[in-house]
Amino acid sequence: MSVRRLAEDRVQPASFSFNEENAAWAEKTIRKYPEGRQQSAVIPLLMRAQEQEGWVTRAAIEHVADMLAMPYIRVLEVATFYTQFQLKPVGTRAHIQVCGTTPCMLRGAEELIEVCKHKIHHDPFELNADGTLSWEEVECQGACVNAPMVMIFKDSYEDLTPEQLEDIIDRFEAGRGAEVKPGPQIDRVYSAPAGGPTTLLDAASARKAPAKAAPVSDEVKEVVSPASAAGDKNRPAGIEKPATPDDLKMISGVGPKIEATLHELGIYTFAQIASWKKAEREWVDGYLKFGGRIERDDWVKQAKALAKGGEAEYIKVFGKKPR
Ligand code: FES
Repeated sequence: MSVRRLAEDRVQPASFSFNEENAAWAEKTIRKYPEGRQQSAVIPLLMRAQEQEGWVTRAAIEHVADMLAMPYIRVLEVATFYTQFQLKPVGTRAHIQVCGTTPCMLRGAEELIEVCKHKIHHDPFELNADGTLSWEEVECQGACVNAPMVMIFKDSYEDLTPEQLEDIIDRFEAGRGAEVKPGPQIDRVYSAPAGGPTTLLDAASARKAPAKAAPVSDEVKEVVSPASAAGDKNRPAGIEKPATPDDLKMISGVGPKIEATLHELGIYTFAQIASWKKAEREWVDGYLKFGGRIERDDWVKQAKALAKGGEAEYIKVFGKKPR
């Protein structure tokens, strides 16, 4: 962690006071603590000061210290210890905090940092030309399962690609940050598995549910076209939808949403999946943003068994029923 110091004097305002609403909130907050323990309010008060001013100024530190009857040095220690407190001005529209801890790093945080360098400033904590944006790398924000992610103000934006982060930054810069829905930026519910639930399912009723024929989009037509298949040599060949597609949900790791996506790729049968070579498996894994799950769940072995002898063969190979 770098040394954290107060901003230079030239950017420090001469004074600080809470606005009327925040002053009332601060008084109420201080009263929550038992007699003699009012200093425990130091962190909430500093955070409120940051929310009001955009960063923690020297004057704010002194004001909070006076309110809590604390020596200035004690409040300064708190403000410089916790990295949540910004000690110099940050972007007025957004300060992007990119998580760079291991899970996020393994899932693409470096590319997100490159986006920030490219769109905002080469260096962290430096403002862009208009003073509207800044960025920094932070430690784990507790959303590792949806890595990679960034925090902006109090919200997290997860499962990000570089393109999505570019779009989010553009919206905040244009003052339209409220348009962006916080949380996962892919089709997942909170931290549930990407592509839909994979456990505690009523497998029998799921299999009995009538198969919905997905409309054949332009993308599907393109997939099944030999000409476009040649455009990406690792993309598995698709086929036209057969009269009776296999129930791909019998493969562990394939839920209704993933099955629909596979259909969009022209994948309808166990035999197709059973034939995938490593490069094709990696292509589909990347397409689904699965992080290696196709290998871990061994889709090919499952598909081979199901293609060969359906449920009976699956039980013979795996010693249990398919989903
Ligand atoms: S490692 Fe990024 S949120 Fe935990």
